[in-house]
Amino acid sequence: AITRHYKFNVVMRNMTRLCATKPILTVNGKFPGPTLYAREGDNVLVKVVNHVAHNVTIHWHGVRQIRTGWYDGPAYITQCPIQPGSSFLYNFTITGQRGTLLWHAHINWLRATIHGAIVILPKLGVPYPFPAPHKEAVIVLGEWWKEDTETVINQAMQLGVGPNISDSHIINGHPGPLSECASSQDGFKLNVENGKTYMLRIINAALNDDLFFKVAGHELIVVEVDAVYTKPFKTDTLLITPGQTTNVLLKANQSAGRYLLSVSPFMDAPVQVDNKTGTATLHYANTVSSAMASLTLIKPPPQNATPIVSKFAESLRSLNSKEYPAKVPQTIDHSLLLTIGVGVNPCPSCINKTRVVGTINNVTFIMPSTPILQAHYYNIPGVFTEDFPATPLHKFNYTGSGPKNLQTMNGTRVYRLPYNASVQVVLQDTGIISPESHPIHLHGFNFFVVGRGIGNYNRRTSPSTFNLIDPIERNTVGVPTGGWTAIRFRSDNPGVWFMHCHFEVHTSWGLKMAFVVDNGKRPSETLIPPPKDLPQC
Ligand code: C2O
Repeated sequence: AITRHYKFNVVMRNMTRLCATKPILTVNGKFPGPTLYAREGDNVLVKVVNHVAHNVTIHWHGVRQIRTGWYDGPAYITQCPIQPGSSFLYNFTITGQRGTLLWHAHINWLRATIHGAIVILPKLGVPYPFPAPHKEAVIVLGEWWKEDTETVINQAMQLGVGPNISDSHIINGHPGPLSECASSQDGFKLNVENGKTYMLRIINAALNDDLFFKVAGHELIVVEVDAVYTKPFKTDTLLITPGQTTNVLLKANQSAGRYLLSVSPFMDAPVQVDNKTGTATLHYANTVSSAMASLTLIKPPPQNATPIVSKFAESLRSLNSKEYPAKVPQTIDHSLLLTIGVGVNPCPSCINKTRVVGTINNVTFIMPSTPILQAHYYNIPGVFTEDFPATPLHKFNYTGSGPKNLQTMNGTRVYRLPYNASVQVVLQDTGIISPESHPIHLHGFNFFVVGRGIGNYNRRTSPSTFNLIDPIERNTVGVPTGGWTAIRFRSDNPGVWFMHCHFEVHTSWGLKMAFVVDNGKRPSETLIPPPKDLPQC
């Protein structure tokens, strides 16, 4: 294992997309930002220097940060923001993980443009558990707005309604050859040779959309998600929620020519979106120039293609081999039932006098002004309370419409866990306003997705459907619209760990909470002391 040094300068850059130029926040002037490479076991040092007028933090999404929660990154959960003109050195070791993850800003909506890939290669000399690909490519999926993101945020926060949808989806920063003002040569290009196999490391860095990804004329073999190997399975469509990553093998076995990669939204709630499909090209070597102009078109799945999503979710299994066993907790010490959804609270200063709020168990999370991790470590009173409810405060038909209790209560409540407990969390989508799928992300852990269903979770009958052998292990899971998902993890990482919807709009509305995990008894089971350069608020 070695130490890898990176420098992330946060700077403004002008970018031209969809016929217009606007300044955006970037790392090192790149969009998407630089790819961070490491091998399993490496120590990674990233010096983040803030050269812009906004506060910033960076989160290493999916990196477990065992005992190093100070470097996890969510603003006011684990650290104060890095203020303009200041810097912070993130310092963490990649332990027991290999695959693809992502890094992104974790304050306000800055991750719209401040994000990039994390590529974790296996330890030196350790092969992949599948035939080695000829080449690998990182594919970052995202969204592009013609307006600046601040305007988009204000729409969501002040009007208390959904934000303006993006003007296009993008692949590696570009809307692609079929977008406004583009030529057929524009956008990301993946060059392939006939007969060879490629590994695509695909990341959903979009703010507010679950995404379908397809490659015209080619099957994809899923081999890894969220930096965990899977049992390989074939599919022609991927579903990736914000915060999720998927590695696939693609065999270049078609005739020479150009084939479209496409990214389009999945949304099966009544709210209909219509952002444009983003595209890129797969480009075979030896394509004759007469074939250059033609692109093999592909039809994206319908926006509400729930069956594709369910089938995809149900096909995912941990590899669970001798080398990579699935250590699924078989018994449960802490059991939580969390309803997730959106409600409506009074807001005298809002245009409609009400505002839409996010909720977990009827609590809308209020960000503190002192980071919870510092308050926990130094015993600072008055920052948070430890009364996060393990079951919903109000009873209602989770998936029905028109319940009476639309309102939520505000609080900075956490749920406290002892070290090394086995925890089960059932995430139940609620129809407080309307049911909708939610990509829920847990910091500091991987969890096993042991069950999933449509309708209300049933304490008596649902557990009999659980897979406790080889469920998929990951850090972000899509809870189905009007349905539930059950996850299990072991609280073997002391610190403060955020859990939230990875739709930025829902997080901003308060669909979030935090776990506080106590130290274990041994020195190797304790949170390390805070670094000297930890930003102050
Ligand atoms: Cu990728 Cu708390 O987020």
